[in-house]
Amino acid sequence: MISQANQSELIELLKQVPLFQNAPERALEISASAVRKRVYEPGTTIFQEGDKGEALYILAQGLVKLSKVDLGGHEKTLAILQPPEFFGEMALVGESTRSATVVTLNEVHAYLLFHDDFRKLISDYPSISLNLTATLASRLRGMDDESQILSYKDAQGRVAYVLLRLYNGGVIERDAERALVRLTHQELANLAGTSRETVTRALKALEGEGVIETRPKEVFITDPEGLEEILHGIR
Ligand code: CMP
Repeated sequence: MISQANQSELIELLKQVPLFQNAPERALEISASAVRKRVYEPGTTIFQEGDKGEALYILAQGLVKLSKVDLGGHEKTLAILQPPEFFGEMALVGESTRSATVVTLNEVHAYLLFHDDFRKLISDYPSISLNLTATLASRLRGMDDESQILSYKDAQGRVAYVLLRLYNGGVIERDAERALVRLTHQELANLAGTSRETVTRALKALEGEGVIETRPKEVFITDPEGLEEILHGIR
């Protein structure tokens, strides 16, 4: 049984989640009573592409990586998500299987909203249904932009795009002067849809331009505006 204090904390968390933006208080209370908390170790596969969809996941702590394997057998990272984002809605609304595999990058705490509760919530509360549509539309727009960039830009442009996406999405650690992306060259290659060797060369070139600094498994973004200029070919 969830205590009153935990229930109000949970409602505060749900209010931050794009799915529940401006949702009626009653909808938040119903959701807070329905969700179940799960904790995952780093490197856990939460579910795999093709699995049956049983629940929607609301991230409360930690990072997850969403990926697919392409026809050539290469992993393509679709996104890295962090709180207060949610995932796993597509299989539930489409009554289909999981469109991607989700793996935890560190310890993850998530709240699961199961199929029937989720379906009832979106049919009872049009504002939640609209928020869901807005998220799907924004992911679709992101994919359209990405497919343009990844097919027309050279390796340096693609890597600049991936770094800026991480920077703008907040999937980084920041201090006063710079932002740190803690990913290996292979992980960046999976995001950019290219090889590890190409990423290593592109990172060297970007470092030569003075917009990033690299260390093993770490990239510091020192000049995001410069990266943006490189992406748009004006530098
Ligand atoms: P589902 O298909 O149930 O399981 C995988 C989830 O990954 C999917 O629901 C979405 O929540 C999420 N997802 C799939 N593609 C993308 C994408 N391009 N950007 C962000 N999230 C995605």
